[in-house]
Amino acid sequence: MIVPGSSSQPLAAALAEETGRPLATATYDRFPDGERLAAVPEFAGEEAVVVASTDSDEAWVELLQLQDAVREAGAERVTTVLPYMGYARQDESFRDGQPVSARAMARAVSTGTDRVVLVNPHEPGVADFYDVPVETVDAAGVLAASLSDLRDPLFLAPDEGAIGIAETVRDAYGRGETDHFEKHRDRETGAVAVSPSDASVVDRDVVVVDDIVATGSTMSEAVDVLVDRGAERVVAACVHPMLAANAVTKLRAAGVDRIVGTDTIERGCSVVSVAPVLTEALAAGAAAEEG
Ligand code: R5P
Repeated sequence: MIVPGSSSQPLAAALAEETGRPLATATYDRFPDGERLAAVPEFAGEEAVVVASTDSDEAWVELLQLQDAVREAGAERVTTVLPYMGYARQDESFRDGQPVSARAMARAVSTGTDRVVLVNPHEPGVADFYDVPVETVDAAGVLAASLSDLRDPLFLAPDEGAIGIAETVRDAYGRGETDHFEKHRDRETGAVAVSPSDASVVDRDVVVVDDIVATGSTMSEAVDVLVDRGAERVVAACVHPMLAANAVTKLRAAGVDRIVGTDTIERGCSVVSVAPVLTEALAAGAAAEEG
């Protein structure tokens, strides 16, 4: 049984279809004082796969409730899929007195599940914060399906951390070069500056690939530099299209041609699904347990 969190309903439905598993009609209610109540139908003797991106504080609460609800409803085994794990960027205590928020969230999630599947977490190390087995999947390759007819393509990572996924997308697309910028972010102001590489972009289509577009500062800086340097078209591609606040406007103002993302966070630009990658991960997990 696939059990969707409220913000992951399209992905959960796609996953149910891909895997042939039934889709639970969960409900999401709210009391007058603001407290939430997520619930699931009765089922017994099955594995419940809770699919819930934690892209808001409400989504975290809902996830913990769904994990508890499926046990109450009779699930023998619970797998938790976090298509997008919020708080993963708070993977250390940056100043005295601050929490390691990713660890706190992971510990809470671990209490209600037998296993966790993460899609492109911001830092792979966050997997170690869970107290149950974790599988981390790289779904960036599905972005290639949203790209076609690229002219002399360059797949560019806006910082060193994204080189791997830029290569994944290039490999899935089948041709093109890869390169990366150097990035500096001012911790106080959040302002981002990127130092261009030597790669020539004149008359080329450039796909800037990142794990997440959050405020859009990183991506819009990269787009701005590339447009200035004469790129033909610049596409912004990311696994997690958070697109908070005025990110879309910043990207448009910088001259982006298109924004493409997956359905780990449902947005207007979520043009490809990670469901096939999650299907493989669930099948591999089941096979490993049987073996
Ligand atoms: C940073 O290392 C990440 O890969 C992203 O580049 C970053 O988190 C994006 O954040 P924003 O959109 O706020 O610049």
